[in-house]
Amino acid sequence: MSVIYLIGFMGSGKSTVGAYLKETYQLSSVDTDEWIEKYYQKSIPSIFAEEGEEQFRQYEIEALRSIHGYDVIATGGGIVERDENYSTMHANGTIVYLQASFKEIMTRLQHDASRPLWKDQDIGKREKLYNRRHTLYTSFADVVIHTDQKTIAAIGEKIIGLVQEE
Ligand code: S3P
Repeated sequence: MSVIYLIGFMGSGKSTVGAYLKETYQLSSVDTDEWIEKYYQKSIPSIFAEEGEEQFRQYEIEALRSIHGYDVIATGGGIVERDENYSTMHANGTIVYLQASFKEIMTRLQHDASRPLWKDQDIGKREKLYNRRHTLYTSFADVVIHTDQKTIAAIGEKIIGLVQEE
């Protein structure tokens, strides 16, 4: 089976869906953010604060290239910021965009303090990032799944259905 890459904005449910697929379908699943935190022994907020976003993006590129042997890879929301990540994902599997609306993201992340590019930003900046990223996710994706009003189970089934079609 080729790899399923989950892409989408912060809070779109990539990690949750990855965990669900692992639990329910016994697929192996990993998060690029978790992989980076373990490998570099540092939290994402600390990497941003101490080394900066550019360094984090390099770690993401490396993570994506280094991770092997997993069925599902839940990526960080900024994976689409670097074109080489498209090449890596496109060469190894199917890219699935979990598309949640901006309104839904605002609700889900209203109390979030862990994401450096989200917390402390005004709504205008958040929406601008959302819109710019949406264009990128769409251009990377083989498949788009709208997630508003869908349960995690329904999203998981849709993904499994897609993979079985291959
Ligand atoms: C980021 C998303 C985060 C994390 C980092 C940067 C982004 O991952 O990689 O804070 O640029 O959108 P999640 O999408 O899992 O929140």
